[in-house]
Amino acid sequence: MAIKFGRPIELRGDTPRVVEAAAPRLDLAIRPRRNRKAEWARRLVRENVVTTDDLIWPVFIIDGNNTRSPIASMPGVERLTVDQIVRDAERAVKLDIPCLALFPYTEPGLRDEVGSEALNADNLVCRAVRAVKAEFPDIGILCDVALDPFTSHGHDGLIREGVILNDETVEVLVRQALVQAEAGCDIIAPSDMMDGRVGAIRAALDSAGFLDVQIMAYAAKYASAFYGPFRDAIGSAKTLSGDKRTYQMDPANSHEALREVELDIAEGADMVMVKPGLPYLDIVRRVKDTFAMPTFAYQVSGEYAMIAGAAANGWIDGDRAMLESLIAFKRAGADGILTYFAPKIADMLQAHR
Ligand code: PBG
Repeated sequence: MAIKFGRPIELRGDTPRVVEAAAPRLDLAIRPRRNRKAEWARRLVRENVVTTDDLIWPVFIIDGNNTRSPIASMPGVERLTVDQIVRDAERAVKLDIPCLALFPYTEPGLRDEVGSEALNADNLVCRAVRAVKAEFPDIGILCDVALDPFTSHGHDGLIREGVILNDETVEVLVRQALVQAEAGCDIIAPSDMMDGRVGAIRAALDSAGFLDVQIMAYAAKYASAFYGPFRDAIGSAKTLSGDKRTYQMDPANSHEALREVELDIAEGADMVMVKPGLPYLDIVRRVKDTFAMPTFAYQVSGEYAMIAGAAANGWIDGDRAMLESLIAFKRAGADGILTYFAPKIADMLQAHR
């Protein structure tokens, strides 16, 4: 299904009529404005579209029953108990959104130095995967692989004397991936940025018989200030000691992103991701052009908060800013977008079918 994204916004206020049919003053044979003269003409020459097929909807899970709790720094986004996640999955199915991404808020008492809860086959993520799959087996489910929702220090890996350990962390991530695959997860998405984790996870999935479980690598993931609201949502903002710059990428680098992506593809990634989104569209374009792989962009929590927050204050038109930001990802070459706007844009697309 391909729905032109422009209609909802273009419907408001049409093209001004020509007031006077004056003789041309400039000697211009070529007038690019001709192709923009009316909505039908703009639709005809439009190069990119956003469709519901492009969407992955990230959702936050909390323990409990029948509860939806708002996240202050992400207006319109809530943490949901497992039963409510299933209701959102139902909404996603009705809206034709292909895939959900699950992120847990782990109770502080369950967090420890080594992120043990990540390996609990009955943790929130695994329970949510099983609950959704029981009712809606045909929706895709993506699970993040990283330890930050589970560690007392908020880092994605194991720490010794202030150093994030690479190879020891990869061993744990492999086990986390297996636990999630066992629960029924379709796409394993390592977001930790340890070296070699994609290859290790691929090998372990294959030898456990999970040949069809896909890997979407957070391949070029930058150490970004735009993750702030997400860390509020999963409760790691207050606990995070230091920053993640020894494993996430330096925002100043672009060639390095290509090396990271190349490695993840060589190690067996089925899809690659660039994160954050809008500030890194140049990376999305380079990755797509260089590797021609299924390429995704994550419009992260801070990007969402900027648009939703400004809209809530009446400073921008939130719907138009959302549409414009999403079409920008497609223009940059992304095949799909992880976005907290997924249900909203899907609603709009459905309404204008
Ligand atoms: C966990 C993870 C993060 C995000 C996705 N997975 C945060 C981080 O790396 O600190 C960010 C998503 C967002 O900001 O919306 N490693």
